[in-house]
Amino acid sequence: MTSYLPAPEFAAQANADASLSERARADRDGFWAEQANRLHWHTPFTEVLDWTDAPVARWFGDGELNVAYNCVDRHVIDGHGDQVAIHWEGEPGDSRAITYAQLLDEVCRAANTFTALGLVAGDRVAIYMPMVPEAIVTMLACARLGLTHSVVFAGFSPTALRQRVDDAEARLIVTTDGQWRRGKPAALKYAVDEALGSDPSSVEHVLVVRRVGLDVPWTEVRDLWWDETVSVASPSHEAQAFPAEHPLFILYTSGTTGKPKGILHTTGGYLTQTAYTHHNVFDHKAGHDIYWCTADIGWVTGHSYIVYGPLANRATQVVYEGTPNFPDEHRHFEIIEKYGVTIYYTAPTLIRTFMKWGREIPDAHDLSTLRVLGSVGEPINPEAWRWYRDVFGADNTPIVDTWWQTETGAIMIAPLPGVTAAKPGAAMGPLPGISARVVDDNGTTLGHGESGLLVLDQPWPSMLRGIWNDMDRYRETYWQRFASDGWYFAGDGAKLDDDGDLWILGRVDDVMNVSGHRISTAEVESALVGHPAVAEAAVVGASDETTGQGIVAFVILTGSATTADALVSELKAAVSLEISPIARPREIHIVPELPKTRSGKIMRRLLRDVAEGRELGDTSTLVDPTVFEAIATA
Ligand code: WTA
Repeated sequence: MTSYLPAPEFAAQANADASLSERARADRDGFWAEQANRLHWHTPFTEVLDWTDAPVARWFGDGELNVAYNCVDRHVIDGHGDQVAIHWEGEPGDSRAITYAQLLDEVCRAANTFTALGLVAGDRVAIYMPMVPEAIVTMLACARLGLTHSVVFAGFSPTALRQRVDDAEARLIVTTDGQWRRGKPAALKYAVDEALGSDPSSVEHVLVVRRVGLDVPWTEVRDLWWDETVSVASPSHEAQAFPAEHPLFILYTSGTTGKPKGILHTTGGYLTQTAYTHHNVFDHKAGHDIYWCTADIGWVTGHSYIVYGPLANRATQVVYEGTPNFPDEHRHFEIIEKYGVTIYYTAPTLIRTFMKWGREIPDAHDLSTLRVLGSVGEPINPEAWRWYRDVFGADNTPIVDTWWQTETGAIMIAPLPGVTAAKPGAAMGPLPGISARVVDDNGTTLGHGESGLLVLDQPWPSMLRGIWNDMDRYRETYWQRFASDGWYFAGDGAKLDDDGDLWILGRVDDVMNVSGHRISTAEVESALVGHPAVAEAAVVGASDETTGQGIVAFVILTGSATTADALVSELKAAVSLEISPIARPREIHIVPELPKTRSGKIMRRLLRDVAEGRELGDTSTLVDPTVFEAIATA
């Protein structure tokens, strides 16, 4: 397989060089201490890693810092107040340029408002907002006050919101009246009201940003307008330092059961690794680059590579509110051209969508400012990789395929631009300071040319510190499988090629990856059986040309319900409503039976074979191998 050697001109100016991994190998703790000193510490740390309470790490444990101070104040103090932090592009075409000085003002106003509402360090705040600047301001204001934020993707249903608000016992929800969706305003505050209903909850206030001008239901005292509170609050506020292990955020992600896991991240190590990776993996140069990460703040990529990493590094970035095809398929390319974007970070699904739309669309634009291209969220197939490099990058721009997870907090495995000779489709190897291996089921380390499970065999600064309210599940999910070795089990399969370069093969558990979004089979199954017509459901992720995986459901109906198409549509809608449109099944098959093992476990592997139209694999462990005749003819 061809490798793409770094261009000498790029290598000559790159932030990273080969000495980075030498330093990390020679003195790992010293290396991370050096990285942590990218940040401003109110109280310098003297210890680096304390792993005595494994699997809960303490990084820079006796240090104190303020995350918002690091992302905003210090840049203003250093004389960069006039630098644009955010070029915000609204879906309807409105835009705002927000400098670091203005961002500081806004964050301070929000912090003063939250304090006036009685919130104190350690309290939780839910953020249920589209991609508006106030969402970023809210996250930073929480960080400033030591409040723990829990961002809930604005595409999630009221049920999903309520579940997350309850689990974290949030005292405040920040939201908007609505969000723009392909030219139309869609209600959002309404969903908050539906989520809260009339049952008592932990929520004392709902703070509402006016974005689309929709009328909203209103509960006096509880509900407050942003422009009547934050906008008129004082813009002065002094940031106070918090210990490095103070919680920063909870972010819910799908696991193998129906209940989402509240992944907990803390401050010092998290900010260190997001800043370090953003600097080296994207070769980011403050004051020069125009950086654009197309993720939503509802996902970890938005947390680490829109908010914390880039702002800690004084980036000037584009934040876009809408979809890539509004008003038409040129939108992203127009934005790249308009702002002169130099670093672009997106998901393979979108690249494959652009491929489908055709290269004449990007070809109609000047994309020559682009100098680093990133990919995240799912394996990128070599064809999409080459197309990305060729069409976006004039065939000479490095591509960084970045593997990481909500749990890892920051990028773990990726090529370094200017250093690594990257291969299309390969995540290549762990970053300097990070250690990973590929092992078999028994924990035996595999060598070149072998495939197995990906594990992380050393703690890293931005690692999760637990699952909110459920430390047993934390130990069980990530640490039990290779407990005797003390390794973190990532849930992904991986392969080492003949050169020893690493390829991520995708999830090995019951988590699907649809357009880079993690969705558990159990969650969709439980939404389906919530419908009175469904007795039992089994869900699998089947490979999909554009979205990576598509959700395929097999359902057994109660009683004598029919196989009407209307029911299938109704079930798809029910899943959208219960979870989110991103969890909507691509196909639903009504079947008379499901394949089960003798212990009653649904054999998803076989259903995947059916969904992908393959010959059936080994059916010998099935209770009743004839069920497949029934499924195939259903
Ligand atoms: C998958 C997103 C292949 C993987 C940052 C992982 C990837 C899950 C890649 C985490 C990549 C992420 N190549 N697969 N470059 N990046 N994944 O928590 O299965 O939303 O376990 O974090 O996405 O998804 P999450």
